[in-house]
Amino acid sequence: MTIQDRINTFADDLTAIRRDLHEHPELGFQEVRTSGIVAEKLRACGIEVTTGIGKTGVVGVLKGNRPGRAIGLRADMDALPIDEQTNLPWASKTPGVMHACGHDAHTTMLLGAARYLAENRDFAGTAVFIFQPAEEGLGGARAMLADGLFARFPCDEIYGLHNSPYHEPGVVGVKPGPAMAGANFFDIHITGKGCHAAMPESGIDTLVIATTLVQQLQSIVARNVPPSRQLVLSVTQIHAGAAYNVIPENAHLAGTVRYFDRATAEMVTQRMQALCAGIEKGYGVEIKMEMRNVFDVLENDATLAEAMIGAAREFVGDKAQIKSDLVMGSEDFADMLQAVPGAYCTIGHKGSVPLHNPGFVLDDGILPLGAAIMARMVELRGAG
Ligand code: NI
Repeated sequence: MTIQDRINTFADDLTAIRRDLHEHPELGFQEVRTSGIVAEKLRACGIEVTTGIGKTGVVGVLKGNRPGRAIGLRADMDALPIDEQTNLPWASKTPGVMHACGHDAHTTMLLGAARYLAENRDFAGTAVFIFQPAEEGLGGARAMLADGLFARFPCDEIYGLHNSPYHEPGVVGVKPGPAMAGANFFDIHITGKGCHAAMPESGIDTLVIATTLVQQLQSIVARNVPPSRQLVLSVTQIHAGAAYNVIPENAHLAGTVRYFDRATAEMVTQRMQALCAGIEKGYGVEIKMEMRNVFDVLENDATLAEAMIGAAREFVGDKAQIKSDLVMGSEDFADMLQAVPGAYCTIGHKGSVPLHNPGFVLDDGILPLGAAIMARMVELRGAG
């Protein structure tokens, strides 16, 4: 029997696990039930389990039947603060929380790969199963790294994947080299002088200043970033004011910068600071800007990207494709890939609603494929 045949024999179990996780989504660093189920299922397969790595992260270690290299496989476990609107029988039972990015599927696929590898035990080296918390901007990968993930569980290579409703079912893609953007998040606090709205001359209007600053920030990408360097600057929040007749004293702007080149991102930070300083001086207000890096640029090792496509090709043939498009979205597996070389692929499915949408539907048909690709990476790369 092929890997896929073997995994298909328990495809119904995978669907049941995925739908159970979907019904009970948990936000980042709160994946207590989810990580409990992961640990229990791994132990049931005879896999050595360590919990509490990066708060709610779980690592399973399984040795093959002959010596070899250590191959890490990673899945994310967290859900999003979204109110589900699919009306599916297995829709979220937790109001305001939903697996709208399909991390329930990634977790399930990795459990499937672990079960297959444990049942067969016919591979060289060691499989390291990394179940990561808090991928959605909360720094789960960094939390695991800070807890000594790769010092305690050394890996020679690591692999991850993401479902994609944007590609045809069964299409597997990997982009060698830089693939997904690095991300900075910023906050800008403006302190002016509050006053009666009927007497603006007695205060300093933070709202006028905030909206002016939003416009000025747009000039950075348009006029300072070379057009050949992909970079996005989006202001995503403005908070100020609470009354019709009060000019607010404080305003808070927030947003994100997505980049592929660290030096360009640093230049953008400096331009933002310069514009803040100019407005500060011109209007006589105080402006504090904080910029923090959240995700690194996701870079796939070129050779290992080929290896991952090679594995996928065994299952989907020509639907496994090397891709060339850069994605401006971010993914915190990037931070693990800065520590250990590896690759990250996408798997297309028949869901037609975008990720992070309240109507997102995951196609359970891709669970065995994801599990098979992950397991195959261990079989192919463990021997070196
Ligand atoms: Ni995701």
